[in-house]
Amino acid sequence: MGQTAMMNALTRHTTSLNGKWQVIIDPLESGNWKQIWEDRKSEKKTDFVEYSFDGSPMLNVPGDFNSQMTELTYYEGMVWYKKTFNYSLQPNKRLFVYFGAVNYTTDVYLNGVPIGSHEGGFTPFQFEITGKLKPGENSLIVRVNNRRHADGLPGSGYDWFNYGGITRDVLLIETTDSYIKDYSIGLQKNSTATITGWIQIDGSHLSQMIEVLIPELNILYKSQSNEKGFAEIKINSKMKLWSPDSPKLYKVTVQCKTDTVTDEIGFRQISVRGPQILLNGKPVFLKGINIHEEIPQRSSRAWSESDALVLLSWARELGCNMVRLIHYPHNENMVRLAEKMGLMVWEELPVYQGIEFTSPGMDQKLGLMLREMITRDRNRCGVIIWSISNETNPSAPNRNEALIKLSQQCRQLDSTRLITSAMSSQRYENNTFELWDPLYPWFDIMAINEYAGWYISWQGKPKDTKWKLIIHDKPVFVSEFGGEALYGNTAGAPDEAFSWREEYQEQIYKDQVEMFGTIPNLSGVCPWILVDYRSPVRMHPVYQQGWNRKGLLSDRGDKKKAWFVMKNYYEGGTRDMEPGARKK
Ligand code: GCU
Repeated sequence: MGQTAMMNALTRHTTSLNGKWQVIIDPLESGNWKQIWEDRKSEKKTDFVEYSFDGSPMLNVPGDFNSQMTELTYYEGMVWYKKTFNYSLQPNKRLFVYFGAVNYTTDVYLNGVPIGSHEGGFTPFQFEITGKLKPGENSLIVRVNNRRHADGLPGSGYDWFNYGGITRDVLLIETTDSYIKDYSIGLQKNSTATITGWIQIDGSHLSQMIEVLIPELNILYKSQSNEKGFAEIKINSKMKLWSPDSPKLYKVTVQCKTDTVTDEIGFRQISVRGPQILLNGKPVFLKGINIHEEIPQRSSRAWSESDALVLLSWARELGCNMVRLIHYPHNENMVRLAEKMGLMVWEELPVYQGIEFTSPGMDQKLGLMLREMITRDRNRCGVIIWSISNETNPSAPNRNEALIKLSQQCRQLDSTRLITSAMSSQRYENNTFELWDPLYPWFDIMAINEYAGWYISWQGKPKDTKWKLIIHDKPVFVSEFGGEALYGNTAGAPDEAFSWREEYQEQIYKDQVEMFGTIPNLSGVCPWILVDYRSPVRMHPVYQQGWNRKGLLSDRGDKKKAWFVMKNYYEGGTRDMEPGARKK
């Protein structure tokens, strides 16, 4: 079983294993697995070894395998990866192999010996390989399988491309015998001048003097970790608070006698007060955009800092102060760059639509993925919202119990951020939306996905829309709305293309913006979606061709007419974006 990855892995003493890896494609999962993971070679002429990495194709890591070989375009199955490396580890040192993410199941072998497995395509994990190295060449073999599982997370049906493979960094991380495995540093709840948190040492030398240094704030804080390697932190200090207008980050060093870790951390307060969301104690309106972790121009999974810059620069250009990274935790480069750019982040678990909440082990799977997500990004002040699901069905067996439990685990792991889920359980009758879901009482904000004008027709003038909130004193956030249009398909296009025309999408946005003025407690909106993205359930031969066309940008980054409606709304601002100006 994989270990939860160490905090701030990318800045540790790392050796990258990124690059070309040899692969064996095993479509029927019928390979002689033992031969493969033992990397068996024929020693004598009579030896019959049917599988070999030598002479096999190579794939880039990080990178999904679907976009790298035509024959793997729609492939969902097993691929074996091999990488060799030499490493001499000094005594009193430890070595870990770290994976930023691998979709979907992973089995790892070192020098022909199984070292562990992991399930879940979007969170990091690591294995300790201290004492498992051999002098000279070591062979690391990774079996990856992106086959869908009805009892998986996500389940078997979802509206995005199931990119498989080793999709993020692979690193060897060397630490001392007793290293700082994890830490939490942030503002105390409801305070803007007290930093609290903790440090966890892992190893044989657990009780140590620890120090937290924030030079810009003249902070040198000293404490002592206990016999379990745990130390609490509490520091009173004035500081510049992080916000979209001034995304201030401080250099923070956490150290003990045997280890030092440096991070960039910002301090901000996020909370709710009745119908409002407060950032650093002031009402804030979330000007959001939904983003999938994909670079359309490359038709592949995004992973690098430059990929993140492409996507987040578009969000900035649209006038956003927030991004909803859906429907799974995106790569760390994306979250860290958003924070640097002053973009607030909604982060979400792939608990999407049809989940088998009664399947054996589902609770553990949900809990582990939650812990992995929060562990990686708990020190990212840019992350303001944890979303534990999207559009799950209220009447699905055990859904309410499982998600209530998960929301409580989330609050235990981190009580300093807002917790919610994106819902589509609202009713819409007589031009009236009724917002209710059994989970709402457990969440800080009520988020709805509504597609008036696309999947559902307007039942009246958007400006006359009525709202029934069963819960009156919680912020409302429109987490998805929109419609499809093929870029360039405009007024001149034939009638039958009407509903795929840019003007049709543009009108949906104009109507939605008009309706926003009617929503009580509105604290933000988030169009579906920034840019057209690949989805194997979108196969209209003319207008989709395997793409969900609800982007405000085409798959080449061209701006559709609706883009300008949204940009104007975010930049021109309308009265109803001033927090507190809302109709009660
Ligand atoms: C849903 C869902 C998205 C999906 C979108 C759509 O609300 O959350 O994942 O892609 O609608 O239908 O385009």
